[in-house]
Amino acid sequence: MRVASIAAGLAATASAQSAQELINSVLNPAPGTSPYSSYSTQIYYNATLFNETPIASTNYDKLEASAKLRLDPAAYDYAAGGAGLETTVANNRAAFSRWSILPRVMREVYPKRNLTTTLFGKTLPAPIVMAPVGVQTLYHPDGERATASVFGELGLPFTLSTATSTGFADVAKANGVNSTRWYQLYWPSDDDLTRSYLKTAKENGYDVLVVTVDTWDLGWRTRDLDRGFFPFIRGIGVQIGLEDPVAHQKLGFNPLAKNATAEQKQTAALYHVITTSRGISPVWDRLPFLREAWGDGLIVLKGVQTAEDAQLAVQHGIDGVIVSNHGGRQIDGAIGSLDALYNVTNVVKGQLAIGFDGGIRGGADIFKALAIGADFVQVGRPVLWGLAHEGAKGVRHVMKSLLAEFELTVGLAGCQHVQKLNRTHLLRV
Ligand SMILES: Cc1cc2nc3c(=O)[nH]c(=O)nc-3n(C[C@H](O)[C@H](O)[C@H](O)COP(=O)(O)O)c2cc1C
Repeated sequence: MRVASIAAGLAATASAQSAQELINSVLNPAPGTSPYSSYSTQIYYNATLFNETPIASTNYDKLEASAKLRLDPAAYDYAAGGAGLETTVANNRAAFSRWSILPRVMREVYPKRNLTTTLFGKTLPAPIVMAPVGVQTLYHPDGERATASVFGELGLPFTLSTATSTGFADVAKANGVNSTRWYQLYWPSDDDLTRSYLKTAKENGYDVLVVTVDTWDLGWRTRDLDRGFFPFIRGIGVQIGLEDPVAHQKLGFNPLAKNATAEQKQTAALYHVITTSRGISPVWDRLPFLREAWGDGLIVLKGVQTAEDAQLAVQHGIDGVIVSNHGGRQIDGAIGSLDALYNVTNVVKGQLAIGFDGGIRGGADIFKALAIGADFVQVGRPVLWGLAHEGAKGVRHVMKSLLAEFELTVGLAGCQHVQKLNRTHLLRV
């Protein structure tokens, strides 16, 4: 297998180079010069010559299983679980199995398939974004710093959650000066807090506002309820609230001050949770306030599941929607998010940017979502399971694997450019 990969690379780069140069360019590519799929060559090479296998499995189910062994059971369940009987979690995956890829052969597909995409005015190496995921220090002490640093390295956008366990500035620093970062808002019930969070986000270089509209109250999460596990009350995932100057004014104290008491910290944590996730449901009529508070920046609504709501987003001048059901964590018995994507793209494709998440587990899933009509996809749980494997090292492995498999799928299905993916590459089964 290793020989086959190397041979493919040799043929692909055939030029006036010597054989040794060709081999070196495949086995030890200069950073940024090799296709993502060369990650498989590196894996085979390292295993064969150095007896070094990857830090975690390249198979999602095995990755999750080994993360489970490394994690506190409550932390594992917090990420793995969903609402009620978890049928929406299952529906997210089932929706993928109803679409199959139709591979085309004998086409001119170059070894370096082109995955680049322009999104919100920026060119990205691939249409893949880190989903907003809170409380990441539950999965590794480096938490959001680790994930943000890897997404920065890869040139892919990182979305910071309002439920982050690491503050705006620290994540921005880890993410890197020229990296693309977005901020996900759980829209507070207090406008002063909203303005303050948005101001700090902007000051720290978060340039797309993702407003999560499906989680203004918490779903019925049975695994967490059975344990009584809610990390926020323990002070994990409330860092934005703890650091916020307006929250300090409202509370009458700074919970991060040296002389702050344990009780004050607990109060500040609860205040953040209550104002952001036990809030008032955001309504369409309030969007002008957000527009004014965010200025001329881009606004994307996350959590849209119907064509009707996507149309309303268009009518309200929103820049994008993310078709998402929060990984099945909010409503039990809802449709799979990929089915929602089909309905949404049928109606609003081309009128605003369409993102997708819910069940992306491998490169073929990314291919299917884009071929159905998404402009970009978000990755959630796989990154957390990667994070559980030594922080940034595990996240890097998961993301490089995902990119490699995606690129291979694009090429092996006979496509050269990711922007040309469409429904003719799929069969509904
Ligand atoms: C542990 C965990 C925490 C999450 N936290 C947030 C969050 O803070 N804000 C948000 O908009 N979505 C959050 N999500 C949902 C993700 O953004 C995304 O919609 C979901 O993970 C997609 O499903 P998948 O991971 O199964 O592909 C969270 C998901 C998980 C698993």
